[in-house]
Amino acid sequence: MSTQYSAKVLDHVHNPRNVGSIEDANVVVQAGDPSCGDALVFFIKIENEIIHDIKFLIKGCGAAIATSSIATELVMGKTLDEVLTLNDQRIATALDGLPEEKMHCSNMAASALHAAVQQYRATVAGDVQPVGM
Ligand code: FES
Repeated sequence: MSTQYSAKVLDHVHNPRNVGSIEDANVVVQAGDPSCGDALVFFIKIENEIIHDIKFLIKGCGAAIATSSIATELVMGKTLDEVLTLNDQRIATALDGLPEEKMHCSNMAASALHAAVQQYRATVAGDVQPVGM
């Protein structure tokens, strides 16, 4: 795999999609990568098992920004079951690849989205309160 960023990665680094927060999000999840200290928060509006809106805030490297940005595009309007099929490899593929040493960066978005699904389902089932509410 190339050590260069693809044009698509660079586009998402310089023009990230869906940056910000959602005031009435019903799921807020955070993820961090202890190896580099980067951190990510997703604000998500889910209704009837569908992602209606998603935004993110991040402190991270370019690959973390690009993978979070494209992850919001990949899950917007999708069912939670579809979100659970998203993994680091699919995120990297959607960006036309990532340098091998940057593959761990896409883990952050994928694991945060999986946690969001679990949090939403647990909240709907009445098991836990949403984070940040
Ligand atoms: Fe930390 Fe990319 S180096 S997420």
